[in-house]
Amino acid sequence: MSHIINEELITTTSQLAFSDALLRNAFRSFLSKDSDYKNQYLQKCYNRAFDGYSYMGQADSLNQYPSDMLHTFVLSDFASSSDFPIEFKEFFDLEWKKIKKLISTIELEIIEQIGDEKLSEFYKESVGHMVSCNYYPKVNNRSKNAIDNKRLSDHSDVSLLTTFPLGVEDGLAYVQNDQSFKVGKKQNVFAFNGYLMQYITAGKQTALLHHVELPNIDEERYSFAFFSLVKPDAKIPLQNTQVDASDYFRDYLKLF
Ligand SMILES: [Fe+2]
Repeated sequence: MSHIINEELITTTSQLAFSDALLRNAFRSFLSKDSDYKNQYLQKCYNRAFDGYSYMGQADSLNQYPSDMLHTFVLSDFASSSDFPIEFKEFFDLEWKKIKKLISTIELEIIEQIGDEKLSEFYKESVGHMVSCNYYPKVNNRSKNAIDNKRLSDHSDVSLLTTFPLGVEDGLAYVQNDQSFKVGKKQNVFAFNGYLMQYITAGKQTALLHHVELPNIDEERYSFAFFSLVKPDAKIPLQNTQVDASDYFRDYLKLF
């Protein structure tokens, strides 16, 4: 049975989203710890893909600008789950496998619809998953920090595909022909293309440019974006050649 019920720039599926309660509580619990504890898990301490913690205002994060108004923690299956803070253990033990199975099924459907043999093979052999846990605190001084009324600036993801198996709250918006469109609150699983998709297909598929808007009512926001991503030691097939994952990460980071 196909999961896909509608596909334009965003593929919406018939699958209802799972609850984000366990992962949200885990992340909240991590964030409530003191800085000395949290700083042991900074991205630079992992030095592996995008794994680790980035705090709001951090200048040397690989996945957010200092002006972006959020804290993130990236978890992945590129290493043992015991590498991550104890707060996430229950999530890894109880939910990670179930969620990865669901998103792999949906991603494979999307990829098979594209009909590119090399891409399907790459997906099956060289792709792993990460989740970016995102926390946007209440916005106390929006005039000082906010750029263009955004909590998170325009970007395309480093992923092959970005999937939201836990749904999403209001705030996500995408850009098409210089116009911004709200995605809105979603209770079904949905997905869109990241930059790796555009890179491998030489632009035949395009990455979705997106951002997060400031809220009308000042409230905090959590979101959990799951990325399919080339494994750190794998190769990426291009037209007549192949490149290392590290070459791709370098090319992606040049976008910013
Ligand atoms: Fe994103």
